[in-house]
Amino acid sequence: MPSRWLASLEDEARQLLPPGIHEYYRQGSGTSTAAADAVDAWARFRVVPRVFADVHHVATGCDLLGMRASMPVGIAPTTLQRAADRDAEVAMGRAAAAAGVPMVVSSNASATFDAIAATRATWWLQAYLPQNRDLARPCLESAVRAGATAIVLTVDTPVVARKLDGGGPSVLAAVPPGWLRTNLGDAADAAKAQDLGPADIGWLQDVSGLPVVVKGVLHPDDARIAVDAGAAAVWVSNHGGRQLDCAIATADALRDVVATVSQEVPVFVDGGVRDGLSALVALAMGADAVFLGRLPLYALAVGGTAGVVRAFEELSDELVEALKLAGWRNAAAARNLVLRER
Ligand code: FNR
Repeated sequence: MPSRWLASLEDEARQLLPPGIHEYYRQGSGTSTAAADAVDAWARFRVVPRVFADVHHVATGCDLLGMRASMPVGIAPTTLQRAADRDAEVAMGRAAAAAGVPMVVSSNASATFDAIAATRATWWLQAYLPQNRDLARPCLESAVRAGATAIVLTVDTPVVARKLDGGGPSVLAAVPPGWLRTNLGDAADAAKAQDLGPADIGWLQDVSGLPVVVKGVLHPDDARIAVDAGAAAVWVSNHGGRQLDCAIATADALRDVVATVSQEVPVFVDGGVRDGLSALVALAMGADAVFLGRLPLYALAVGGTAGVVRAFEELSDELVEALKLAGWRNAAAARNLVLRER
């Protein structure tokens, strides 16, 4: 069971946010089949706990692409944080810094890279590449100058999927200028690339000089291609159920990807993680870190920076309790847990 407060976050956010904004955050693509599956899929797995272990002290700290993180958890990139808090990615960045977790900044962000960097958070830039790759250069270069420490290339969005589960047109078309795509320059209105390939990973590395994480992988063969092309990490994601609505849940895709590449690079995962128990299942499946999209967004809407800090404190408490009850002293060892599918 998630803490009562974590479990109430979406409802609280729904009451506070304009309906169109809440709908944009909550929605999946199509009829939200994949978005609903994402949460349920983790709950199908059961852990076989170990006993006879000294679990007085449980360590959750870990290295994530050079960052010493407080736990194997991070903030996934989400568009329109400005609608949850007027300080947008700056408010989120302050929380990431306080919680000791990395934050991935959406390329659609409203705050400038310099303002985000001033929070002293460890932040990675999420990139969608445009058809004309050169248009992406200025944004990448300014992220590097401002102190981004990795690039997260989202590969599951050749087009933005239609959303049928909602009342009307997306709020994105109607938000004030300045709420979106502040850092994109001429790439702001560019069509997304529909021909991403392994060469783009090397290109991004060359342009940025940073490690490139490939986000949006579900098939182990794609994980293999990404790693062979130089990816520093593979991120199993179906975009929170916002792209292919009949896509497999990440809880069902993760183990094949781990089996294929986790000896070589870290494997991250997101989608439907709302509590420490789901995070434990993901770690038991071999994930090196779990990222959250909607949960910190709802926490930002409900309590600003303090709300997000509290959400990560409660997640950490749940994870520590779950590790103790499962018989492991540190988060990395959770991959030794035996899992059964119900
Ligand atoms: C997203 N996601 C996303 N991903 C990305 O690469 N760039 C982006 O700009 C966005 N924007 C975005 C907006 C909103 C409102 C949501 C909910 C999601 C996807 C995100 O990074 C992540 O993959 C999912 O949110 C993970 O699922 P959960 O944790 O939201 O269930």
